[in-house]
Amino acid sequence: MRYLLCLIGGALIGALLALTAANSLQRRNAWPRAIMHVMQHELGQSRENARQGRCTDPSMGTAQAHLTLLSGDLERALLDPAAKDRVFGKYAQDLRNAVAAWDVNADCPHQAARLGEIDQACDACHRDYR
Ligand code: HEC
Repeated sequence: MRYLLCLIGGALIGALLALTAANSLQRRNAWPRAIMHVMQHELGQSRENARQGRCTDPSMGTAQAHLTLLSGDLERALLDPAAKDRVFGKYAQDLRNAVAAWDVNADCPHQAARLGEIDQACDACHRDYR
């Protein structure tokens, strides 16, 4: 009986520790993952707008502003401060350049093309780092 109780107690403590570890891992990744999800939302919404010919929608300008801000945080959010990763930095800069090239006053076909290039910049980094 005593052994059984020890076994159950040990299993419970083990489960608790695993849960705590999983939770703190989740929290550690919360910032980079939040950045990625907001960027995905802004990009997806904008591409949908462009597809439906709503390129003068004010949300396009907001999306571009958000993408500019968020893409500026990629290195800080995803890299160890001590790490210097030139390739990662290049992918991040490529994304920033693509976002800067997006002119929200251009006509729909042009905006759609720029948004496609932004999407490619996301994918390029994901191929190597995700
Ligand atoms: C410079 C590199 C880089 C660029 C550029 C980049 N990402 Fe990511 N992305 C990552 C990495 C690394 C991960 C994995 C992060 C993790 O799991 O903690 C990721 C993960 C994601 C995820 C999944 C997040 C999750 O909850 O697991 C989404 C969605 C995403 N990125 C969207 C985007 C979009 C949209 C863009 C472009 C606007 C983009 N990313 C540009 C590096 C990048």
